[in-house]
Amino acid sequence: MKLSVIGCGYLGAVHAASMAELGHEVVGIDVDPAKISALSAGKAPFFEPGLDEILQSALASGRLSFSNDLADAKGAKVHFVAVGTPQRKGENAADMTYVNSAIDGLIPHLSAGDLVVGKSTVPVGTAARLAQSIADAGTGAMLAWNPEFLREGFAVKDTIAPDRLVYGVPAGNEGPKAKALLDEVYATALSNETPLVVADYATAELVKVSANAFLATKISFINAMAEIAEVAGADVTALADAIGYDARIGRRFLNAGIGFGGGCLPKDIRAFAARAEELGRGESVAFLKEIDAINLRRRQRAVDMVIESLGGQVFQKKVAVLGLAFKPDSDDVRDSPALDVAVQLHGLGAKVVATDPEAIPNSIRLHPQLGFATDTMDALHSADIVVLVTEWKEFRELDPVEIGELVKDKVIIDGRNTLDPEKWRAAGWTYRGMGRP
Ligand code: UDX
Repeated sequence: MKLSVIGCGYLGAVHAASMAELGHEVVGIDVDPAKISALSAGKAPFFEPGLDEILQSALASGRLSFSNDLADAKGAKVHFVAVGTPQRKGENAADMTYVNSAIDGLIPHLSAGDLVVGKSTVPVGTAARLAQSIADAGTGAMLAWNPEFLREGFAVKDTIAPDRLVYGVPAGNEGPKAKALLDEVYATALSNETPLVVADYATAELVKVSANAFLATKISFINAMAEIAEVAGADVTALADAIGYDARIGRRFLNAGIGFGGGCLPKDIRAFAARAEELGRGESVAFLKEIDAINLRRRQRAVDMVIESLGGQVFQKKVAVLGLAFKPDSDDVRDSPALDVAVQLHGLGAKVVATDPEAIPNSIRLHPQLGFATDTMDALHSADIVVLVTEWKEFRELDPVEIGELVKDKVIIDGRNTLDPEKWRAAGWTYRGMGRP
């Protein structure tokens, strides 16, 4: 099948390469010439395990190409819109500029019977509005909404073999036509019995934001328990294990620490709250403001723990910060709690030396004032305190005995509760986790 993918950022680049890998003929289109030239050369403009490999194999097969020109979407039967919906500056609502301009730019190249498929995370009501613009332009094309649930670090796997598919299709006789086209796109996943939910536009849009709101709530719930554990002398990790054995609760996404970040959860819960207010139902999701507040308090708590551990004297102390990315296996520092902790400590006068296997270049761009070391051992050398803020495998596997020789003081704050406290204490370290005695 011939497909176009408008927007080759995180979502679009992965989607374009994965669809070509599945056998479709795909053109990926983006306004950024640097992105297009990198992708055309088989190199993703960000770090994502496995993506370069499928980009290269799909480019070599001739099924995948990239372009700066929306006119190259012409001739495709299905057009995916995968542009960003960032948080608007100084506001909580989503910025719809890129979605609107992608649709406006695509309309002149649509043919009757084509299907435009929205993948971006949008405020509920967007699909109905865009369907109206497409109809008003007299193109004879249809619109569907097909939210994406990929996780960074697992993006290729999540796209090729998703855990569910959701289609928001138009009412009336266009509905079955849109569904049939999407079924053809996702034939491989459907033949592997991937669950499918077919619904209206508004439901499909809401599925995405409510899934992210639920995940954010789960993380902030356990972080709230961590706050209580801290004053009660309890251990939130044992608590999470114990409640997680209840299948109705489940252990996943119950890791307390410095909280969630990234390009999705923080901005999506804020945009959801803003949209609910516009719809006159702000009170229904007012709890999301609390979820956000708990989340932001946890990074502050990590900073406070560093100050306390240094006896209140942070100025000129060397702090080794292990991690900058918002989570491991990613170079993404958007809304990263790890980077925020490093920035706050620097702001307090500490000599921060931060390290991360992939996220240093993106961090330098945003915060050149910080100290960076590409080698973990350099970051640790003569450190007064160590703060682990992104649980990369290489940090989890550090040997407390070996690195104990390097640092000035054997004090570690484990912002992700990822190390074994007994092992570190046995090696003479003062170990402090989040929500643990
Ligand atoms: C998320 C959703 O999982 C995905 O379905 C959606 O499509 C996009 O948003 P992603 O942003 O890639 O994906 O990251 P995710 O793995 O969900 O982690 C988000 C943040 O939560 C990270 O900062 C992570 O460190 C943090 N987290 C996650 C916790 O603090 N505790 C947990 O138990 C799990």
